[in-house]
Amino acid sequence: MMKRIFVFILIVPLFMIGNNACKKKVEKPISKLDTAIYNPTAYHFVNPTDFPYMQLSTSNPMTVEGIRLGRMLYYDNIIDKYQARSCGTCHHQDKAFSTPGNIIPHINIGYSSYFLWNGGVKGTIEDAMKFEVEEFFETNVSYLNADAEYPYYFFKAFGTKQITAQQVAYALAQFIRTLVSGNSKFDKFLREEVNFSNQELDGFNLFYSEAGDCFHCHGVMLFTDQDFHNTGLDTTFTEANYGRYTVTGNPMDKGKFKTPTLRNIELTGPYMHDGRFHSLEQVIDFYNAPTVMSATLDPIMSKPNHLSGLNLTDYQKQSLIAFLKTLTDTSFTINTDFSNPF
Ligand code: HEC
Ligand code: HEC
Repeated sequence: MMKRIFVFILIVPLFMIGNNACKKKVEKPISKLDTAIYNPTAYHFVNPTDFPYMQLSTSNPMTVEGIRLGRMLYYDNIIDKYQARSCGTCHHQDKAFSTPGNIIPHINIGYSSYFLWNGGVKGTIEDAMKFEVEEFFETNVSYLNADAEYPYYFFKAFGTKQITAQQVAYALAQFIRTLVSGNSKFDKFLREEVNFSNQELDGFNLFYSEAGDCFHCHGVMLFTDQDFHNTGLDTTFTEANYGRYTVTGNPMDKGKFKTPTLRNIELTGPYMHDGRFHSLEQVIDFYNAPTVMSATLDPIMSKPNHLSGLNLTDYQKQSLIAFLKTLTDTSFTINTDFSNPF
């Protein structure tokens, strides 16, 4: 809230002085486009310990200049056809880039190849950003080409003087690839830098055993199997909860949704594709209760231990939650490389 008030106070007078004056604050003084040199600095992407390999793009190599530009675009309404909103309007860093609604946060999505709850966008992160730019925001590149500063930043990133929609998507993709969370208490525990409390350890053991049975779908290190499941939230399916079926048209996909990561889960509520649960307690109660059969129910959720209910004690439920909270990575949510640069 403080931040919003601050931004508001800052932006209003600047708008009165002249358009886009607020961009002058970015990192370093703007040199003239005419004399600018294209000499991008390669960005060395460091994968956190034990993470799977992130497939980087050969047609969109990460550079310091490209990431800087992507970060600016992420927080700038200029990419919106109506100039009314930016990515940052909905995706909030302090909530691990989720929103107050039911959004899959951008955490480690550089490792994904399906995006959105129903996997409606498939491919690389470049493809996902192409969708955002062309279909969701309907970006009008003439705003960017006419801007006092963006042509310079695009030239520094891509070496051309005409800005294209593909470059907008590519810059955003470079920035999003850097949004990696791999430094939670859980990661430090694995690296033997910190200890877990007894309760966190009990939760860890429940999570990774048949007793809690979470690891099949929310496996290490990304806490998602990148697949789609019907976990038994509903037994009847209509347009509102068709999920994956909307994309594939296969009746066996009704009610299946993408497994979301559990990293930073403490910060990303409400939970599930429709935000039906407001607390982790409610989520655990759901998994603990006997599952109700339906045609597309996941085989894991139709095992006897789920059909009769996991029967976790209150202490065990609290332990699972204590473990889930070890996935909070404040170095991610306060990282100034990811924050609004304006
Ligand atoms: C109006 C609010 C809003 C704005 C603005 C917005 N998003 Fe989203 N975003 C959402 C919602 C809601 C979802 C989840 C939709 C779904 O899964 O069906 C989402 C999902 C995503 C996903 C999929 C994540 C995953 O793991 O599947 C990506 C990637 C994404 N947004 C990127 C962006 C980018 C980049 C921008 C700016 C160009 C942006 N969003 C702007 C609301 C917004
Ligand atoms: C069969 C695969 C599967 C198993 C087993 C499973 N989950 Fe999930 N989980 C999912 C899917 C899929 C979703 C999204 C469901 C939806 O919204 O329709 C989800 C959603 C969640 C969410 C909400 C995430 C968000 O961002 O909204 C939490 C928290 C969660 N699971 C924790 C757990 C825990 C804890 C366990 C073990 C007790 C567990 N899950 C077991 C697949 C699974």
